[in-house]
Amino acid sequence: MKRLICILLLLETFVFAVQQQVDGGRSENEISPQLSSEDRRQNPTQTDTVRAETLNDSQQNCHLYFPDIHAALRELTATVTEQKANIRALETRLRDAEQAAEQQTLLLEELNKKNDEISNLTQSQVEELRKENRDRQIAFSAALMQSTSGNVGPFTTDITLTYRNVFTNIGNAYNPITGIFTAPLKGAYMFRISVHGTAIQTYPSTVSIIKNGEHVVTAHAHQAVNVVNSSNGVVLLLEVGDVIFVRLLANRRISDSQNNYNTFSGFLLFPLK
Ligand SMILES: *[C@@H]1O[C@H](CO)[C@@H](O)[C@H](O)[C@H]1NC(C)=O
Ligand SMILES: *[C@@H]1O[C@H](CO)[C@@H](O)[C@H](O)[C@H]1NC(C)=O
Ligand SMILES: *[C@@H]1O[C@H](CO)[C@@H](O)[C@H](O)[C@H]1NC(C)=O
Repeated sequence: MKRLICILLLLETFVFAVQQQVDGGRSENEISPQLSSEDRRQNPTQTDTVRAETLNDSQQNCHLYFPDIHAALRELTATVTEQKANIRALETRLRDAEQAAEQQTLLLEELNKKNDEISNLTQSQVEELRKENRDRQIAFSAALMQSTSGNVGPFTTDITLTYRNVFTNIGNAYNPITGIFTAPLKGAYMFRISVHGTAIQTYPSTVSIIKNGEHVVTAHAHQAVNVVNSSNGVVLLLEVGDVIFVRLLANRRISDSQNNYNTFSGFLLFPLK
């Protein structure tokens, strides 16, 4: 504040000095026609004296702060330069901060996107597992006759048995019309058959599990009197599309009733890659 006053006073001095010069250059008659130039030098007007004194005081005062106007200007210039440097530094810092904030925003967006993706992935994985689990649910069990009783056979050739009385058919891999089970996925499967026959006549009771036309295991019983029973089972490694069914061999006979003695069952133990 004091410095500002000094600068103003210095300016005032400068203006006053210029005015003095201008006044001095003018026709003396115009300003004070009653005074000669000598008188004027010896008796400056009252106002001028006061002003000079004031300025003299001010100059003195200001000389305490600035040895001269150049020094003051130099100091001012230095201050301004310093402030400019400070502003530049602040601007740089502000830009850096803005850039950092921008990067943070981008990072946040990226994270949100990743989060969405993971969430979506989790959801799709859960969906896939559910589907896989549904695919793994394969189990069936059926008996030969639905509501009748009687004999099947003998025939001159092997025939495929159709177990019509379906207890379970989860996954619908067993077809009760054709009697054929078709593997929907690769895995280890368990199959089981049971056979029952009346042995009053000479026909044995013999049925076999067939895989893709090839005989695998047989259940067989034969005796002269009474009824006979037998069973068998097997674990098979099946590829997708492999077929399993049961054949009654030629010249054999089986019997059944609502007791469901003759059954064909199968289920997936576990899938394989
Ligand atoms: C200016 O101040 C100095 C020192 O105080 C003094 O000697 C001198 O007479 C003053 N001049 C005027 C014009 O007042
Ligand atoms: C996530 O799933 C939703 C709905 O299916 C979809 O609109 C969005 O684009 C998915 N996001 C990503 C990142 O995949
Ligand atoms: C076969 O099973 C039936 C019904 O369970 C039974 O009555 C019969 O005694 C069994 N036959 C033999 C030879 O075990």
